[in-house]
Amino acid sequence: MNVKRDIQQIMQLAPVIPVMVVDDPQHAVPLARALLRGGLPVLEITLRTPAALQAIGRIVEALPDAVIGAGTVLTAAAMDSALEAGAAFIVSPGATPHLIDAARERQVNFLPGVASPSEAMALLEQGFSRLKFFPAQAAGGVAMLKSLHGPLPQLTFCPTGGINPDNAADYLALPNVACVGGSWMVAREHVRGQNWGEIESRARAAAALPR
Ligand code: 3PG
Repeated sequence: MNVKRDIQQIMQLAPVIPVMVVDDPQHAVPLARALLRGGLPVLEITLRTPAALQAIGRIVEALPDAVIGAGTVLTAAAMDSALEAGAAFIVSPGATPHLIDAARERQVNFLPGVASPSEAMALLEQGFSRLKFFPAQAAGGVAMLKSLHGPLPQLTFCPTGGINPDNAADYLALPNVACVGGSWMVAREHVRGQNWGEIESRARAAAALPR
C-alpha cells in the first residue's frame, strides 16, 4: 500500500495503537501480522531493545498494509535511525526543544508527549496539535483530558500509559481523543511464547472499541 498519511490520518485508522517491545527480531513479523489480522494496522515499536530498528525494517518490508511508528524516540539521532528503518511516524514520551526542532526540520509525522497544559501550549505554538498524553492514567487520566478540552479544544490526543480494556472506552468517548496507545494486547510473555492467537484475539477486541 505505502500510502503517505499525516499524523491526523494515522490516528484515525484504528482506536488503539499497540505499543510494542520486541526482544527478538524473528518475532516482529508474526507479531505484527497477528495485530493486523485482529484489525489494528497502526503499530508502535518502541526503541527500547536492540532489536527494535530491525523489527521496524522487517515489518515495513513484509507487511505494506501496516503503518509502523517508532516509539520512545528521545533524540534526533534516534529519529533518523527510525526513519531510515522505514518508520512512518515518530512517538516520544515527551518533547524537548531539540526534538521538536528535529521533527520540524525533517517534516516527519511526530506525536510528541505532553502531560500538562503548558507543554501542550508550547507544542501548539510550534504547530503541533496532535499529541500523545503521557503517562495518561498517572497524569490525570480522563478527568485531565476533559479539563484540557475547554481551554484547548484545538488539541487532539492519543492517551497512553496505564490504559487497559477496562478504561479504554472512557478515553475513546472523549471529543479530544482520537485513539489510545497501550501494551495490553502485546503482553511480553505472549510475544516471547509466540502466542499469536491470543494476541490476535486481544487485538480484535481492541479494534472493536467504539469511539
Ligand atoms: C509504555 O510506556 O510502554 C507505553 O506508554 C504503554 O504503556 P502501558 O504499558 O501502560 O500500556
